[in-house]
Amino acid sequence: MNILLLGSGGREHAFAWKIVNSPKCTKLFVAPGNAGTSSIAENVDLSPNDFEKISAFVIEKNIALVVVGPEEPLVKGIVDYFEGNEKVSHIPVIGPSQKGAHLEGSKDFSKKFMERHGVPTAASRTFTKESLEEGLEYLTTQTLPIVLKADGLAAGKGVLICTTLEEAKSSLKEMLVDNKFGEASSKVVIEQYLDGIELSVFVATDGISYRILPEAKDYKRIGENDQGLNTGGMGAVSPVPFADQEFLSKVEEKVVKPTVNGLKEEGIKYNGFLFIGLMNINGEPFVIEYNVRMGDPETQAVLPRIKSDFLEMLVHMGQKTLESYDLEIHSFAATTVVLVAGGYPESYKKGDKIEGLQSADGEEHSILFHAGTKSSEENTVVTNGGRVLAVTGMGDGVAIALENAYNTVSKVCWNDLYFRRDIGQDILKLIK
Ligand code: AMP
Ligand code: GLY
Repeated sequence: MNILLLGSGGREHAFAWKIVNSPKCTKLFVAPGNAGTSSIAENVDLSPNDFEKISAFVIEKNIALVVVGPEEPLVKGIVDYFEGNEKVSHIPVIGPSQKGAHLEGSKDFSKKFMERHGVPTAASRTFTKESLEEGLEYLTTQTLPIVLKADGLAAGKGVLICTTLEEAKSSLKEMLVDNKFGEASSKVVIEQYLDGIELSVFVATDGISYRILPEAKDYKRIGENDQGLNTGGMGAVSPVPFADQEFLSKVEEKVVKPTVNGLKEEGIKYNGFLFIGLMNINGEPFVIEYNVRMGDPETQAVLPRIKSDFLEMLVHMGQKTLESYDLEIHSFAATTVVLVAGGYPESYKKGDKIEGLQSADGEEHSILFHAGTKSSEENTVVTNGGRVLAVTGMGDGVAIALENAYNTVSKVCWNDLYFRRDIGQDILKLIK
């Protein structure tokens, strides 16, 4: 079959790598892709948000399956667009409907969804400009720290953890009145602070049944020891040792089942991935957030651990036959280190020549995924984004996987290359 994958990050390179490894794949196109995807598939210069052009391409190239990497096209309704267009309505698009994508696109919607279906989460209330005074009053009744969340998509920046009442009050005003995050903060969710250990669980669903993929922990801050600004993610580790079988069973019973059943009950079409951000508080799971896609860089650690045919799973998700798919997982650990351009997540340079890619690519027990990269005219690859590469090491246990990842990282360089050297160190301490 011919497949079209939408997106251009490390997550999409990992998807592409899995898809082309399947005997079911005839040809893979990636729109727009990066230098990594172009070496294993054909990049197409199309925006994932241009649904008209995408559907025309799907017809022209006889595409049988569309796989959506990032959230934006989902939140903008690509699944509904395909369903409503009779020329392409028979072609499965892997991702939720626009209503389903609200689980990520609106924190208020997702909190209310969790409340309706009894999914454990932090207590919260939502306020708007009109109810600002009530919101300020509500803050005085809460314990500190307190969490303020912009309702809409805010590029991962819309969550503020406030440690004083003054900070919380002024932040609430800035968000609601001064549009700190634009339209995204026209509603603000005020939420209890959850104190625990964070991890993420990934679910593939066809709207009827589900498969739970390997869990992962990511490293969001730019600096070592979790200091500095939030990023898209600087590393990931899978499996997560503090997520034992007992905890994961609780996640399945208390979170995954009510979520998938809730979507079904509410008639929300959902053939896609659900990324559940969780806090483990004394062995009990609480949902921090839903994302309606896979994580980046978590995907680069999770997918290498999937032993069964990944494309086959995507096909089952599209055909609503996931019940008959056997998901098999490798027992080895996978750890991902993200290599970024100096300055990220603030301003950074593009166009730096990357050295050592070939030697890094040839290393055993590791995989080199591209993110913000581009092939230049002189047959070289240059940086083209903040997060540039993601290196995944595999091994028997987290320590060996990390050794393999960092060994490959050491082969690559460019001006201003930066990465965290402490990915997984917290987990190694916990294991000891
Ligand atoms: P989100 O955008 O919802 O993933 O939030 C970003 C990060 O803020 C999460 O990954 C958590 O580390 C943190 N966070 C969000 N909500 C809470 C909460 N209720 N309690 C503690 N930390 C939180
Ligand atoms: N790494 C976090 C995310 O993909 O949202």
